[in-house]
Amino acid sequence: MHLMKSETFNINLVNVGKSITAAAGDTLFKALHDANIFIPTVCGGKGFCGKCKVKVFSGNKSSLTDSEKKKLSSDEVAEGWRMSCQAVVESDMDIELPDDTKNVRLYTAEVIALGMVCRETRRVRLRLLAPAEMEYLPGAFILLDIPPAAGSRLALSRAYSIATPPSSVNEIELNVKHVPEGKGSGFVHDVLKPGDKVTFSAPYSGYPRSSDENELICVAGGSGISPVLSILRHLKETESRRKIKFFFGVRTCDDLQYISELRTLEKSMHAFEFFSVVEFPGENTSKDTIAGRVTDAVIRSVEDASGCSAYLCGSQGLLEACRTILLERGISEDDIFYDQFF
Ligand code: FES
Repeated sequence: MHLMKSETFNINLVNVGKSITAAAGDTLFKALHDANIFIPTVCGGKGFCGKCKVKVFSGNKSSLTDSEKKKLSSDEVAEGWRMSCQAVVESDMDIELPDDTKNVRLYTAEVIALGMVCRETRRVRLRLLAPAEMEYLPGAFILLDIPPAAGSRLALSRAYSIATPPSSVNEIELNVKHVPEGKGSGFVHDVLKPGDKVTFSAPYSGYPRSSDENELICVAGGSGISPVLSILRHLKETESRRKIKFFFGVRTCDDLQYISELRTLEKSMHAFEFFSVVEFPGENTSKDTIAGRVTDAVIRSVEDASGCSAYLCGSQGLLEACRTILLERGISEDDIFYDQFF
């Protein structure tokens, strides 16, 4: 279809009661961000994360892209879901935003504490200023605005998981791993200092099934620990009697973090087992640490996963390997929740 560059179309957000105008040829993702409608993203609109789904009722005739074929289930396709960074505006449209995006707002916060939690990861504690409180689910994430492109929310924002439990409504904690050349991590590691103000949109996603009562198996690699900490801290505060296994995998002992808190939780919670697994342990391994790959620890320690839920956070490779292991042990696909790094 040939679209005139100056042509604009009307996008009707049917479950928000609002319409926006979008330029022909823009992606829905860009049109929504330009109108300050917050859509979750971890990949920044590159088609990798699958977080940016919207339901399209009418007006989009473009074919599914390869990214959408990988990330959308057949049920989602049948119901009309598209990834907004892939769907192109080519006529007036009626769309629906996911329910969990309706509470997303723009926040201003002050940095009140900074410190390294391991060799490459910096903890950032933020006090919310405006609004001063935020409701969120355990394991939710924020999109932190990265200067200097303050006017460009699309290009310079980075997703970071919240490590605090939902009871902490006016202060949140993030753990940001240093990434060479990374704009977001460079800002957090090299520029941010106590007293600085930051802006972010939130809350996105989270683990809606944290209150279930069946056994929970969590696996996290490296800084994937943040959302699991949020979930565990929440379960501790709510005196959950849920059976929980948490496998935390890192490359070296210098990458371990929050170990003393997790060991304390292991002693004080009803049925929580913690496995810290170091792939290349070196000489300083403590007796509580398992040497090897985290997937091997899961294989050895989970005989039967039927009836369990799983929360997996890490690289695509880790998530796919754990998915295979847990499915072989009887977990239902619907009971696996994924939080993938990009
Ligand atoms: S924003 Fe990541 S897939 Fe669309």
